[in-house]
Amino acid sequence: MTAIWSVDTASFCDNAKRVKQNNTIMAVVKNNAYHYGLEFAIEQFSKIGIDTFSTTSLKEAVRIRELSPNATIFLMNAVYDFDTLREYRIHMTLPSLSYYYEHFNNLYDISIHLEYENLLHRSGLKSIDEIKEVLQHHHQNQQSHKMNIVGLWTHFGYADEFDVPDYQIERDAWLEVVDTLISEGYMFEMIHAQNSASYYRENGVLNHHTHARVGIALYGSRPYQSIAKDSIQQSLTVKGNVIQVREVSKGDYCGYSFAYEATKDHTKLAVVDIGYGDGILKTRAKHEALINGKRYPIRALMMSHMFVEVDDSIHARDEVILYNNDIRVDEYTFKGVGANSEQLSAMNHHSLIKEYR
Ligand SMILES: Cc1ncc(COP(=O)(O)O)c(C=O)c1O
Repeated sequence: MTAIWSVDTASFCDNAKRVKQNNTIMAVVKNNAYHYGLEFAIEQFSKIGIDTFSTTSLKEAVRIRELSPNATIFLMNAVYDFDTLREYRIHMTLPSLSYYYEHFNNLYDISIHLEYENLLHRSGLKSIDEIKEVLQHHHQNQQSHKMNIVGLWTHFGYADEFDVPDYQIERDAWLEVVDTLISEGYMFEMIHAQNSASYYRENGVLNHHTHARVGIALYGSRPYQSIAKDSIQQSLTVKGNVIQVREVSKGDYCGYSFAYEATKDHTKLAVVDIGYGDGILKTRAKHEALINGKRYPIRALMMSHMFVEVDDSIHARDEVILYNNDIRVDEYTFKGVGANSEQLSAMNHHSLIKEYR
């Protein structure tokens, strides 16, 4: 018996279709497709008509090209390996004015998306004036081989926040940039800004935008709680097994360093073969696990094991589910365990058996 990380392929595709609807989606596949596996994700997304992908890693971008010869691939981090970008036809961000002036000669024949910094301050041109400066300098550049400005984009840092006005502020600032450039006659093949939260908040793709740049919803988690549970479904299951059930008495300490003190005699603790070494977060272990359709409290977390307090109905070899569509990653996000992507990224794919069904 070993703990298992498994994905139901039909449910993954079904969810992606439900998220996509009739919109044009750029699927974010960074970090090995949120740990779902780059090869798997590209294959499934392609099947349902998504042909545009973005990542932060050049290595992943090259791999996407190998998997999908006709896809549009957008690299969200700027790199300096210009020949590889040309060879694999990878689009790339323009991260700053200084990067432009330093490298515009090297960027020839590369498709570039101008990035607007906005409130996140992670990357991008600082103002519409900087964007226009690049556009005008590029227009006046007489070289026969120049970079191709094909896109305009930003990233919202506050779309998941509802109690502060910052999403509205960054959204309005961005729309002003887009509207102004379009009204002045600038044209872009691709305009994209929205992560999952913004895509749901706006009920689809914003005006003038060609794509929503969606990640976590495609992987089965709701970016915020008020989205109906059945509009996004989780195809991932993470489960271990009961190795044995032990009985302890009131006052017994169980687990390392007094981790749990039994509060009653005849306390039944299931010893389960999954722990933080497999990627179960300490914060997640403050909650429950699902055994035979019922939730039981996790009492202590160890590297390769956990204790779950159970009743007489639980026996050795019963399955212990940490995550599936009934006990979802997003439920624990909303309980403060950590971001959806943080819980997914913590999974240890070297120790868990990985299965696609
Ligand atoms: C630049 C950028 N765009 C889009 C996304 C997708 O966000 P989400 O997974 O919330 O849809 C991310 C994720 O972190 C990102 O960094």
